[in-house]
Amino acid sequence: MRSAFIFFAAIGLWACRNDQKIDLLETKSAEQHRPIYHFTPDSMWMNDPNGLVFLDGEYHLFYQYYPDSTVWGPMHWGHAVSKDLVHWDHMPIALYPDSLGWIFSGSAVYDQANTSGLGKDGKGPLIAIFTHHNAPLEKTGSNLFQYQSLAYSNDNGRSWTKYPGNPVLPNPGIRDFRDPKVFWYDADQSWRLILAVQNHVSIYKSLNLLDWTLLSDYGQNYGSHKGVWECPDLFPLTDEQGIEKWIMLVSINPGGPQGGSATQYFVGSFDGSQFIPDHPEMYTEEKAVWLDMGTDNYAGVTWSNVPESDGRRLFIGWMSNWNYANRVPTQRWRSASTLPRALRLVSNGDGHLVASSPVSELRSLEKEGIELGNLSVYQDTSIYTSETGAMKIDITAVNPGSGLIAFRIKNLNNEYLDVGFDAEQNRYFVDRTFAGIHDFNESFADFFDTPVAYPHDTVKMTIYLDVASVELFADEGKTVMTHIFFPSAPLKEVLVLAETGNVHLLNASIREMIK
Ligand code: FRU
Repeated sequence: MRSAFIFFAAIGLWACRNDQKIDLLETKSAEQHRPIYHFTPDSMWMNDPNGLVFLDGEYHLFYQYYPDSTVWGPMHWGHAVSKDLVHWDHMPIALYPDSLGWIFSGSAVYDQANTSGLGKDGKGPLIAIFTHHNAPLEKTGSNLFQYQSLAYSNDNGRSWTKYPGNPVLPNPGIRDFRDPKVFWYDADQSWRLILAVQNHVSIYKSLNLLDWTLLSDYGQNYGSHKGVWECPDLFPLTDEQGIEKWIMLVSINPGGPQGGSATQYFVGSFDGSQFIPDHPEMYTEEKAVWLDMGTDNYAGVTWSNVPESDGRRLFIGWMSNWNYANRVPTQRWRSASTLPRALRLVSNGDGHLVASSPVSELRSLEKEGIELGNLSVYQDTSIYTSETGAMKIDITAVNPGSGLIAFRIKNLNNEYLDVGFDAEQNRYFVDRTFAGIHDFNESFADFFDTPVAYPHDTVKMTIYLDVASVELFADEGKTVMTHIFFPSAPLKEVLVLAETGNVHLLNASIREMIK
């Protein structure tokens, strides 16, 4: 009897060990492309960032979330909170679908003066304004299936109540009628809402966030219309000379400059009711202006209620592309956000452009690495090997006028990613052709480039790598390219490429990014 017990106990132990081993293996491969310092949901599907709002020392990041699958489905709002935009705590799901529909993209504001009357104990509420998407109604062939609704929270976003009078902005008979972004318009102390309406945006006004009046439409004749307009934003930025402009972001899908989805922007003025672009000739059907010239920065919008003492216009995007988002080879979860970025208005000839820089808080993740001053490279030279594939590369180089200034980041399986500047073409590029798994989409493995729009004596590149993504901020963020990729093992070794001769780096540094 006793020996039988020992025998079965031993089998039990063996089985248990084996299970553990299998579990570990599964976990390892399931986590293979998990970034180290980018935001990802713990599990399941994520797309657009939503409800970006700062309150009481916390940045809130809500996001399009489907908790039952790793492919897009009935949308919820997932939720995460951070004190520094770098370390995020996962919170319970904030908004669930209800009888009015799934919870599509939208925004959040702090209603400090309690204009909505939905606050408590003398404190204003957080208000989330989102699109209800009524899938059964869509199936009937009706055009009325998207409308704007509201939810409020009186405990710093920990719990939410849907407003009983939803929807607050009913559908006027237009199929694509979504993604409300609300902001406080200080000049007349009232709210504005900008909404994506098929091929244009509409701007509304409200005194209480509940009753909305249409003020104007913009965009039928401006910018790219190769796809449906989505996820707009409208906010002021001030340039180096103190000149204020209003920036309108509009994401479109498809029709992006590298295929699939991307975000265009307009620089102009806003008088409280109408947006007027400064240089209409810049925004023709052929010539749109894009926030990011890579494949993988979509539906990005900015944080509301960031204190004036901070002064930054903070942005985050969804780091994927509708061309393949549902099929990328991650298993436990799908999609990451871009790095949080600060947007700046930069004068450029007689116009302006919007530059992006990763937020300075990211410096807290930079650890040991290497520092190289004045380096001439005559042949491909290996300069660094990272421990994890999460690193930041900074270089300043003399523009050689011809040839490349480029980096190759590779693994031991002959996979590599090239990032750099082609001096002859005057173009920045990212080449992910050989960067790993690409069988999920026929145009994924490719070379992408973008022209540099101004004279260029020195070339500056800051490159953030994080296991499965690269973000190139060139010339202080005037040119940005964001791309994802899926190597079979992390790309860790960094080489300077010198295919066409001498590359002169004025200085270079590479830092591990550790969390
Ligand atoms: C943009 C988008 C939005 C919509 C949401 C649905 O990626 O299509 O227009 O609200 O995703 O998940």
